[in-house]
Amino acid sequence: MCGIVGYIGRRQAAPILVEGLHRLEYRGYDSAGLATPEADGFRVIKTEGRVQQLRNLIKEEIPATIGIAHTRWATHGEPSDANAHPHLDASGRIALVHNGIIENADRLRAQLTADGVVFASETDTEALAHLIGRSEAATLEEKVREALSRVEGTYGIVVLDLDNPGQLVVARNGSPIVLGIGESEMFVASDVAALVRHTQQVVYLDDGELAVVRADEFHTSTLAVEASPVVKSPTTVDLVVDDYELGGSADFMSKEIHEQPTALSRALSGRLNERFATAHLGGINMDPRELRAIRRVKFLGCGSSYYAGQMGAQLVEELARIPADAEPASEFRYRNPVVEADTLYVALSQSGETLDTLAAAQELKRKGGQLLGVVNVVGSAIARECGSGIFLHAGPEVSVASTKALTNTATSLAMLALLLGRVRDLSTADGKRIVAGLRRLPDQVAEILAQEQAVAEVAARFADTRSMFFVGRVRGWPVAREGAQKLKEISYVHAEAYQASELKHGPLALIDNTMPTVIIVPDDELLSKNIGTIEEIKARNGAVIAVTNAELPEGLADAELRVPRNETELDPILFTIPLQLFAYHLAAKLGRDIDRPRNLAKSVTVE
Ligand code: AGP
Repeated sequence: MCGIVGYIGRRQAAPILVEGLHRLEYRGYDSAGLATPEADGFRVIKTEGRVQQLRNLIKEEIPATIGIAHTRWATHGEPSDANAHPHLDASGRIALVHNGIIENADRLRAQLTADGVVFASETDTEALAHLIGRSEAATLEEKVREALSRVEGTYGIVVLDLDNPGQLVVARNGSPIVLGIGESEMFVASDVAALVRHTQQVVYLDDGELAVVRADEFHTSTLAVEASPVVKSPTTVDLVVDDYELGGSADFMSKEIHEQPTALSRALSGRLNERFATAHLGGINMDPRELRAIRRVKFLGCGSSYYAGQMGAQLVEELARIPADAEPASEFRYRNPVVEADTLYVALSQSGETLDTLAAAQELKRKGGQLLGVVNVVGSAIARECGSGIFLHAGPEVSVASTKALTNTATSLAMLALLLGRVRDLSTADGKRIVAGLRRLPDQVAEILAQEQAVAEVAARFADTRSMFFVGRVRGWPVAREGAQKLKEISYVHAEAYQASELKHGPLALIDNTMPTVIIVPDDELLSKNIGTIEEIKARNGAVIAVTNAELPEGLADAELRVPRNETELDPILFTIPLQLFAYHLAAKLGRDIDRPRNLAKSVTVE
């Protein structure tokens, strides 16, 4: 969702700001803008639409060496030029960009309007610009502090003041802000993707912190009106600009699908222990006694991360024989959950920014729950909130549709399940079997990817379908859900996932020759049941696409997407891959904007 870039230094700010916004495009947005100071006021250029449109509006060199910029994803007020950020106060001397939502914006706008302020936009952000501009505090830092003390909600902000043109004031409460440290220049962003071209030295602000940023220094302090200094040390990010480049791929989804063998190898590297037939997960900071004390595991995540959690729950029950389940993090905090002392709660998130998952983690901590994070983005809010856990090492995931992060999440949860199993009753032989199976995964994923053309041909055959079922049993059920999710989000073809066992309890009524079904058919103890389901669908003239590693009777399915054999417990990880390719090629056939599906954002930082 929204993106922030700020710059102060020796170079012209505008090209750096626009390039930074370009790096944040993947997050999803509907308008873009920037502000730089001039002798007699701010130069503000903003527009509904893409960063390229903003670039086209910059007709001449802008000499300013300081500036702020933003990509907006509409919450208060429709996408429009007027609602795009930056916003100015009434005097035109304060400029502000803001990520997050000011929850008491209506009240603040009403009060400000009663005081004679005329608003130029429908946004919550503009109210904050006016509050800062009207503050009578002595410095910009104090004005920002005072204004924020009247604000309820979430924010990451950068403020520029014409009367103090040598500094940016930034603050964070719930929306990420990272400072990038250069040589006599400083960068501010909501996401390191906007910084890595310039520097690998970064400082993450925590919630409730403010920073005054000058070209050659920064000072951090708490946000409270009675502020106290906070000492923060820079960390080095292990990312380079090439991680965010297409490098010859048609789009990021394709690039990231094909990165999976390497990404998986990184996730497994150093974490498998043949000798003891277990996993070594240093980041979870739990000794065997603590692991044995766990009586239940609950996974919390949203969308694909939630489906990976379902895969993880199945693995934990099978390998460790502890009750486990997954729940959408978006629901968790609203049902006053019972938090048990001997339950291990695991927050799952690629971005580490998903507001619903972050809020679930905070609710758990508030109630004293034992919490781990399984997160891709190092330094992200959820990683920091959880404190310990497993990093996915998937590398940056840019496409809205999650692929390699989901695969690495499911694989990380398989390692967690193995570890929990091996401190209990999972035998050495079974542990060795799973370790060997995990080691085979990268090559087997590569084997599936090598069949891309065959999957593309099947996808093309079904490209004019308006609606599809995705069904699976037990281990296949989260795979079906994830397959339907992938198809929906990038192709806009309606897809509904069902447990195969539930079909005849209602949805079978919809099966006819216009409603194909994708069915997950592992060669496991439920094979004959799944063959029965295929026959029921065929008897009603429904087409069947089987994702399978079994030898199905000749002609049973209308199409087969083949998967190599591994240990049955690990099947969901492999069975997900052909469905990524299926969704990708079906969406490509329909000419969709694959990396940026309509209405969606990569990081869902609002409710
Ligand atoms: C996945 O393809 C989706 N874009 C979406 O469901 C995503 O998994 C979800 O929003 C959670 O994101 P997170 O993993 O970054 O928390």
